[in-house]
Parts: sequence; structure tokens; C-alpha cells
Amino acid sequence: MMIRDLIIKNRTYRRFKQYVAVDRETLRELVDLGRLSASAANMQPLKYVLSCEPARNAVIFRHVGWAGYLRDWPGPAEGERPSAYIIILGDTEISEFTDCDHGIAAQSILLGAAERGLAGCMIGTVRRKELSAALEMPPRYKILLVLALGEPAESVALETVGPDGSIEYWRDAEDVHHVPKRPLDEVILEI
Ligand SMILES: Cc1cc2nc3c(=O)[nH]c(=O)nc-3n(C[C@H](O)[C@H](O)[C@H](O)COP(=O)(O)O)c2cc1C
Repeated sequence: MMIRDLIIKNRTYRRFKQYVAVDRETLRELVDLGRLSASAANMQPLKYVLSCEPARNAVIFRHVGWAGYLRDWPGPAEGERPSAYIIILGDTEISEFTDCDHGIAAQSILLGAAERGLAGCMIGTVRRKELSAALEMPPRYKILLVLALGEPAESVALETVGPDGSIEYWRDAEDVHHVPKRPLDEVILEI
């Protein structure tokens, strides 16, 4: 698949086939894509925690927030929750600053997931203190992002931001999730 097609395919998904497992080896291979990605000053301060067991997944699910713009949707119901997670951590003993390393790694991982027919969601809304405690994480590790993963169980469509200028995603009557993107000519500044 060409990179443009893969990037278009790599939408945020929030509903999954929860009972279709994603195995640990797959998660390891995805993390390897993060490991090989760019890192400020090549410090490589990122560490990763994997989860593909239902009990551990349930712990992580309790501490993440979903789709702020879908105000009437409390997040995926039992049966449509992620079957795996990768938690991206900053190892403060390597560096206090992770710059944008975790965003780059997250994108590499999610592109790799999309290439395999999986899908995911970057989650920054995380009750970090509670999740660190629940996973008994040593204090040197800072939670930066949680990646939810699984086989997608929803349809997502890209749109162009309309005349009202709203960038809020929405779901239509057929339950398709629509994601507005600003047009190319708006994001390239002629200065
Ligand atoms: C840094 C970052 C944090 C995000 N945090 C959340 C989150 O906490 N919960 C959520 O449901 N989606 C989260 N998202 C997903 C965005 O809502 C999503 O990327 C956006 O709606 C655009 O959709 P797209 O990824 O399909 O282009 C996050 C995305 C990024 C890049």
C-alpha cells in the first residue's frame, strides 16, 4: 500500500471486535516500529507497556477517556472495547524531556497496525496517577500516551471542514463516524 493510502486508512477507531485477540508478538512487532522511529538527540527515552489480556485491558480501560466531542457517548461498550493496548512511557532516568518522540512513535505504531488490518486510537485523556498505581509502575516512568488497538468494528469517513468551520467529528444516523479535516490550501501559508 502506498503511504498516502495507508495514512488515509489510519483513522482513529474507537469501537473494536473486543473478542478478536491481538497477540503479544504482534504488539512487540508494532513497538519495534516505534523503536526504529526518530528521537530528539537520539535519546530514545520511550518505554512501552503491553496489554493483551482481558483483565489487564479492563484495568487500563477504566482510566482512559473517549471521544470528547461525542458528548452522549460514554465510550465503547462491553464487546466493542479494545483487545490490546500499548502504553507509551517516558523514562525520566534517560531524559526528563521527550519532546514529540511519543507522537512520532505512536504514528509509526498505528500505521503498522493499519497495514495489518488493525486499528487504534491515541489516547491522551488518561488518569495518569491512577493508571500508574493500578499497574504498579515505578515512579521513573511517566505515562505519555495510551494506544488502544484491535480489529475495527466501525466505519470512519474523512470529510472536509464545512463552511461553519467546525472541526468536531460526528456520527451519522447509520453510525458512521465522520472526521473533518481542514483543506490543503488552508494549511499551506502563502507567506
Ligand atoms: C495526542 C492525541 C491525543 C488524543 N487523545 C484522545 C483521547 O484522549 N480520546 C480519544 O477518544 N481520542 C483521542 N485522540 C484521537 C483524536 O480525537 C483523533 O485523532 C481526531 O479526532 C482526528 O481523527 P483521525 O485520527 O481519524 O484523523 C487523540 C489524538 C492525538 C493525536
